[in-house]
This record gives sequence, structure tokens and C-alpha cells, in this order.
Amino acid sequence: MAHQNVYIVSNSSYVPKGVMTNQDFEKMVDTSDQWIHSRTGIRERRIAAEDESTSDMGTNAALKALKAAKKRADDIDLILVATLSPDFIFPSTACIIQEKIGASKSAAMDIQAACSGFLYGLSVAKAYIQSGTYNNILLISSEKLSAIIDYEDRNTCVLFGDGAAAQVISNEGPGLLVGEVLLGADGSQSELLCMQGGGSRNPASIETVKQRLHYLKMTDGQAVFKTAIKKMAEAGSRIMQKANLTSDDIAFFVPHQANLRIIEVLAKKFNVPMERVVTTLQKYGNTSASTIGIALDELLQRKVLKEDDKLLLLAFGSGFTWGSAFLTFKKEDQHD
Ligand code: ACO
Repeated sequence: MAHQNVYIVSNSSYVPKGVMTNQDFEKMVDTSDQWIHSRTGIRERRIAAEDESTSDMGTNAALKALKAAKKRADDIDLILVATLSPDFIFPSTACIIQEKIGASKSAAMDIQAACSGFLYGLSVAKAYIQSGTYNNILLISSEKLSAIIDYEDRNTCVLFGDGAAAQVISNEGPGLLVGEVLLGADGSQSELLCMQGGGSRNPASIETVKQRLHYLKMTDGQAVFKTAIKKMAEAGSRIMQKANLTSDDIAFFVPHQANLRIIEVLAKKFNVPMERVVTTLQKYGNTSASTIGIALDELLQRKVLKEDDKLLLLAFGSGFTWGSAFLTFKKEDQHD
């Protein structure tokens, strides 16, 4: 059987209303707008309301994506939720969203690949659709990182924000035709960026709370910074080679949004001028699995894409995990 084509037929995002600026952090920890902006590019980030959960944000993005794709919840065969800040350890946030949107005919599961979650989810969706197993998949990335951030730790608290994105991925276009998707992982340095409390190794206890183990920790930001550049540069080169593309073929570069300095190094490496690099971290900070979906939404809203424009996507996150993908903008469905 011939492989099915795979399209992102709609891409939507949702960010909570609450804004936290760099100036707000100046009142909380020993930091400054100048430090945060010059070291990361971030000016502000969105923070979910206390009663707004990861599944609530994911549901908002999912309903928008369904509407944009002109699909009903019942058309969906599988819901995938990429998150490192789920509502609960179990049941999966995907099951909670399935119930909230009324997708009664779908299967549902979460994907845990931290900031690379969107690309890991895309590769799973692609495999199911390409094989003909499913026709319509709802991929959701949603993060309430404010729930696991230590607001006394200046090394991490200024970096992250909350938000969600969702895509309807189908076997019929038009939309963004999904090309190569490559993934990688290296668990040997997992302790550099992790949350140690609450799982089976350190079950929640008064002690784990006292030791602040239920917060995200980054023990060596510079090592993460260097590995992020190295792995995303390798992933980008590998995918260009595999897809037989050069820098000239990249219409837009849509990278994971962790640090503007990381993005600038990669843009230079791939010879993409910054006006063709999508950056949203100035407004939203690092929303982990959600960053690429939010950035894609911003790019699509600009309505600048032309037929056959190619987008290079790169991500890197805790694990470590990384991934790369190529998407091609198609106004018409492509039949083989
Ligand atoms: N305000 C002021 N000073 C600060 C702050 C802050 N918010 N945070 C750290 N500093 C200080 C440090 O304590 C250090 O001080 P010292 O020299 O007295 O020890 C100094 O600033 C320099 O710290 P560095 O860590 O060397 O700063 P660097 O330039 O590396 O920037 C940063 C830090 C922004 C965290 C950077 O390392 C980074 O972006 N790392 C990568 C993050 C990333 O890519 N994450 C991706 C995955 S995220 C995920 O999967 C969830």
C-alpha cells in the first residue's frame, strides 16, 4: 500500500491572559530586566490562572484547531498531548482533554519528551497516518510550567511561561505537508534539567517538599546551552542532507524558543537571516512543548507563506531529547 501524505491542516494556539514582565521578577529575585533580556531575549511571559490547568489550555487550543480544520471532535481518531506539566501523573492529560472536547471515538495518550514534545508527537502522528492506521489526529502541546517553577530560583524562574498549541493532522490537505521528521535522545545527562520529586524514585513527602524537589531544576545552564546548540545544529544538518535541501530552500526557520542567543547561532549556521526566523520568546518565554506550535501559529497568522515554502523546525529539551522536521506549505491537496 502506498504511504499516505500527512498534512497539518490547522494550527492554533492559546496563551493565558496573565502577563508577568521582567520588572515583576525584579521584585521577587535578584535579577534585572537588563540581565534577562540580554541573556535570553525574553521580555515577558504568560502565566495561567490558579484554576486554569494544562488540560484547560490544551482544550482551548484544540477547539480552535478543530474549528479551523472544519472537523468535529468525533472525526478525531487519536489525541496526542505533549507535556511535561500534565494535570496529573495519571490519568493522561490526553484522556482529560478527550472528555472535555467530546472526542468520544478517539484513543488518547500523552507524550513526554519535554521541549521536543511537539516534534516527537508529530513523528507519532505522521507514522499512524502514513501507515493508514488513522486519518485524523489531534496533536496538542500544553504546558503550565508556572506550576513546577521555583519562583525563588533566579536561574530558572525567569525563563519559562505557560501556553498551548494544537494541530489537526490528516491524510488530506491542504495545509503544511509533513516531510522528514528526525528524533534523537541522550539520557546520559538527564540530571542537568529535571524534576526529581513526586515520581517513584522520590515519592512526594514532607522531605521532598522541604528540599524543593517538586520544582524544575537546571543545574548547569551553560552545559544545557552548549548541548542545545550542538544537537540542534547536528539535527538540522542531518535533515537537510536526508531531504536533499540546502539553506536556500528554507523559507522560514521555526526553532524551539528557549534562548534568543541559541536561535541566533543556529540561524547563522543555517544561513537564514533573522527576518525569516520566527521568534515568540520575547512575549512568551520558553513554553516547552508548546513553543513551536505557538510560533507556527504566529507565522501562519502573518499570511506570508507562498506555495511550496519550506519550514525548518528544530527542538531540544530535557532528557536530553531533540528533533528536526521539514514542512512544505501547500494550498492544494497533493495526490500521489
Ligand atoms: N538574573 C541575574 N543573574 C542571573 C540570573 C538571573 N535571572 N540567572 C543566573 N544569573 C547569574 C548566575 O548566577 C551567574 O552568576 P555567577 O557568575 O556569579 O555564578 C551568572 O548570572 C551567569 O550565569 P550563566 O549560567 O553563565 O549565564 P548564561 O549566560 O549561561 O545564561 C541561561 C543562563 C539563560 C539559563 C542559559 O544558560 C540558557 O539559556 N541555557 C539553556 C536553556 C535551554 O536551552 N533550555 C532548553 C530546554 S528547556 C526544557 O526542556 C524544559
